[in-house]
Amino acid sequence: MKHLLKLLDLSGQEIMEILNLADQLKYETKHGIEHHRLKGKCLGMIFEKSSTRTRVSFEVGINQLGGYAVVLSSDGSQIGRGEPVQDTARVLSRYVDGIMIRTFGQDEVEALAEHGSVPVINGLTDFCHPCQVLADLMTVREFKGALEGLKLCFIGDGNNMMNSLIAGGLKVGMAVSVACPEGYRPPKEILDFADGYGCFELTDDPLLAARDADVVVTDVWTSMGQEEERQKREAAFKGYCVDERLMAVAKPDAMVQHCLPAHRGEEISAEVFEAHAQYIFEEAENRLHAQKAVLVKTMGGE
Ligand code: CP
Ligand code: NVA
Repeated sequence: MKHLLKLLDLSGQEIMEILNLADQLKYETKHGIEHHRLKGKCLGMIFEKSSTRTRVSFEVGINQLGGYAVVLSSDGSQIGRGEPVQDTARVLSRYVDGIMIRTFGQDEVEALAEHGSVPVINGLTDFCHPCQVLADLMTVREFKGALEGLKLCFIGDGNNMMNSLIAGGLKVGMAVSVACPEGYRPPKEILDFADGYGCFELTDDPLLAARDADVVVTDVWTSMGQEEERQKREAAFKGYCVDERLMAVAKPDAMVQHCLPAHRGEEISAEVFEAHAQYIFEEAENRLHAQKAVLVKTMGGE
């Protein structure tokens, strides 16, 4: 695998191969088995948006693989002063063995991959969050035993998380149903992709989307970079809270996923969050294992 730019680029089989390697690396980590598959390799990490999980899990992950990380923020580098991404790509490619980037535009990530000569991993853009969804799928499989045939529903904004869950879920054989208000639907590229699948459903009714779901996922109503729209969004998403009323229509053994950070009382009730905390925090842990698999597959040339 050369890069991880978006899940739309991968086949269902490639996604499953990443999850299989992630399971293996998790097992090895838990049993103290060293796996220095990227010995001496350097991962450059660019953050143009805030992060807790992505930042720490990538840095710990590359270290556990025998490599190390160099972190750049837009504030402290020339990126924030407007140096073109084409030049950043060509310079960093001469120093590091792979680049993880969290930024706004998907085009910036694609340009980094096009102009650089090392693997590029998308650590979140406005368009998608592939590393998170790999961890989500890994977690669902861990608790449910399989992915194919399960119903996954996403309640909320047609944002990076919804986009990646639609792509990833459908590619691995899940039925995917999403509920979002008019005006907050996923972009055309995602809907065109999903149209090819009979097991995709888009509605503005959260209770319809959640009916008989095996997995219920939600995310913040206001993503990074949208802070000025917060008030408008709070009004638009009223009724889209994953609470006990919504969970009552899902399967009795349904599990909840949230990429975090969570806003209790907005997209998820405190009760549902705590009742599903074991799944949500395993999901957070699995960022580490899933991303190590991505690092090995890209920077290790597998
Ligand atoms: N879920 C996630 O990507 O978390 P961070 O923003 O903390 O990296
Ligand atoms: N949709 C959220 C995800 C955060 C991990 C955001 O982009 O801010």
